[in-house]
Amino acid sequence: MTSLETIVSLAKRRGFIFPGSDIYGGLAGTWDYGPLGVALKNNIKNLWWQKFVTDREDMYGVDTALLMNARVWEASGHVAGFSDPLVECKKCKKRFRADHVDGAKCPECGGVLGESRQFNMMFKTHVGAMEDSAAVSYLRPETAQGIFVNFKNIVDVFHPKLPFGIAQVGKAFRNEITPRDFIFRMREFEQMEVEYFVRENDWQRAFEEWRMVMLAWCESIGLDMTSVSELEIAADDRAHYSKRTIDFEFEYPFGKKELYGLAYRTDYDLTKHMEYSSKDLEYFDEETKERLKPHVIEPSLGVERTILALLVSAYREDEIGGDKREYLAFKPSVAPIKAAVFPLVKNKPDLVAKAREVYTGLKKEFGSVMFDDNGNIGKRYRRQDEIGTPWCVTVDYQTLEDGTVTVRDRDTAKQERIVISEVAALFREKLI
Ligand code: GAP
Repeated sequence: MTSLETIVSLAKRRGFIFPGSDIYGGLAGTWDYGPLGVALKNNIKNLWWQKFVTDREDMYGVDTALLMNARVWEASGHVAGFSDPLVECKKCKKRFRADHVDGAKCPECGGVLGESRQFNMMFKTHVGAMEDSAAVSYLRPETAQGIFVNFKNIVDVFHPKLPFGIAQVGKAFRNEITPRDFIFRMREFEQMEVEYFVRENDWQRAFEEWRMVMLAWCESIGLDMTSVSELEIAADDRAHYSKRTIDFEFEYPFGKKELYGLAYRTDYDLTKHMEYSSKDLEYFDEETKERLKPHVIEPSLGVERTILALLVSAYREDEIGGDKREYLAFKPSVAPIKAAVFPLVKNKPDLVAKAREVYTGLKKEFGSVMFDDNGNIGKRYRRQDEIGTPWCVTVDYQTLEDGTVTVRDRDTAKQERIVISEVAALFREKLI
């Protein structure tokens, strides 16, 4: 198994992910995305949106505020119960999550740990010029509540028939006691969530349907499916709102841990928001004239855990011509750069002009295409391999004679000579 250090080092060296606020010594639990990281992240979010929203007829997308009225979090149970057990070392004063330490000794200095107490993980802030309790707000710890508070808006405007879902992709913030393992446990991260509203007697069918959709998603983006497994969460370990939860786990370099969650939230959230807002959030079925509170199935996917699982799944080492090579075997749909175009040499203007023409044509259709004329061809191939570019197109002397280029496949390192007009078709076919 690839070590986490290998992945972190590649991610930094090749411009995927950097430590947050690095020049000031960093800020624990925050990471910044470079050009390749943001391209990879956007590909994941766009593919998710397509599969979970656009390709379906029963989904409505929203993009709601990060800051919400504090009453939302009182209603949802987060003010009272969104906490982790915290212990503090009596000697060095460092704080740890109680369930992350073995025994009663401080893992840093060996000192004695104090009593465990609950620590609320929401980031508190003040809205407006007043810093009194009336102005308190929280950065959302899950995107889900933005969906629940808009349930009535969607029903009133679109009159959806049950079952239907509301989806959102966006930032979530948690003041994790011990952020760690690169982008696995962060204080600022992104979620891709669906709240799927069903009749109570339909929840098991819907749960099973979403379980399958989530597994299909993992496979479609190229996760190593031998590293993905499911864990039925026992009642005592489930979130306060859940009557059934399955965690999808992934075999990371630091062990098997949660990747995604699928929960049956019952009618908990709508009930609580009705109580706290005094608004009628019942659903009126226009056909049966029935009033009811829908129940909810929630597939919840973390963007960063997807990225980490993808980097681990795609990382490969092999040898080419006696030289060690590292590469990322991303699926073309996920790869940040789809193709790179090279002129064989950079001091022949007609070769460079032809390569530019090929590059411009491909870029117009595929967007993230790169032009590279630096160093020898072997080095250029290695650079593209390391960032997971599926194809490299080289324009050489023969191109000027017969209009063919070489297309080199990242995984096999084999080159094929094809006519320029067929290159786009080859990519298109494999970009699904
Ligand atoms: N709305 C339900 C919810 O938020 P969760 O299991 O707390 O459930 C859902 O979070 C997903 O969000 C997780 O499965 C994981 O992918 C991601 N996630 C949660 N906490 C995270 C953190 N601190 N850093 C990165 N991703 C996180």
